[in-house]
Amino acid sequence: MFADIAKKLPFMLAATLALAACQPKEAAAPAGDNASAAAPAPADKVYNVAMNANFPPFESTTTGGEIVGFDVDIMNAMAEAGGFKVKYKNQPWDGIFATLTSGENDILISGITITEERKQTMSFSAPYFEVKQVILVPKGQDIKLADDLKNLDRVGVTTGTTADTAAQKILGATSTKIARFESLPLVIKDVENGGVQAMISDSAVVAHYIKNNSDEGFTMVEVPDFPKEEYGIAVRKEDTELLKLMDESLQKIRESGEYDRIYSKYFAQ
Ligand code: ARG
Repeated sequence: MFADIAKKLPFMLAATLALAACQPKEAAAPAGDNASAAAPAPADKVYNVAMNANFPPFESTTTGGEIVGFDVDIMNAMAEAGGFKVKYKNQPWDGIFATLTSGENDILISGITITEERKQTMSFSAPYFEVKQVILVPKGQDIKLADDLKNLDRVGVTTGTTADTAAQKILGATSTKIARFESLPLVIKDVENGGVQAMISDSAVVAHYIKNNSDEGFTMVEVPDFPKEEYGIAVRKEDTELLKLMDESLQKIRESGEYDRIYSKYFAQ
């Protein structure tokens, strides 16, 4: 019996490889190795979707307390296309990943960069947005290169973000020049009142801030030191059906043109 399997193994392997080779490059890469559709979500199931709503234009709260933004519109469109129900929760960024494992939340969509480290503890959908880390420079500061950050006293980041990682890469992991804040609005406030002399964050967020605060005279500096990053939707590792549902729904709204409509609502030139 063992011998039997052993004889078939090379063939099985070849067949798998051939199949993989046939996958179109741009396919939404379903997490599993077969193309079967995700099981429909149970009719009464409402998924808890969490985000740190302090990150416009991806997520923020209105004065009435409603969570709005690109991520909300995308998830609403996905829920509609995929036939599932969602409920949104505003969650502090610090500890947001732990709320997946604890079962408190089922889905995280929060401008979350897919990283190798995060992939150890959760699963990510296919990428749905691309950014890179950039430097927000206030008027009067001369920053052109990442190394120029070394001449400053304090550089602001949100704790535990990829901006934090980027700052550590330039200034050193234990640098006392890195000023860590709990949320983006707190970092921005400190840039505005001169507490930190520059800030690092995601390009789309920094661009959005500059556009809406043009009177401040702030600039966005892009440096080659920071690589491209991709946002993904996170679910628990064991929730393979839910991950499939995320990928399929995302693919559906890309194909229907809904993704593009939402994109231009937030990022039209
Ligand atoms: N993309 C960055 C990261 O994953 C920042 C995300 C912050 N998101 C938020 N909603 N506050 O680390």
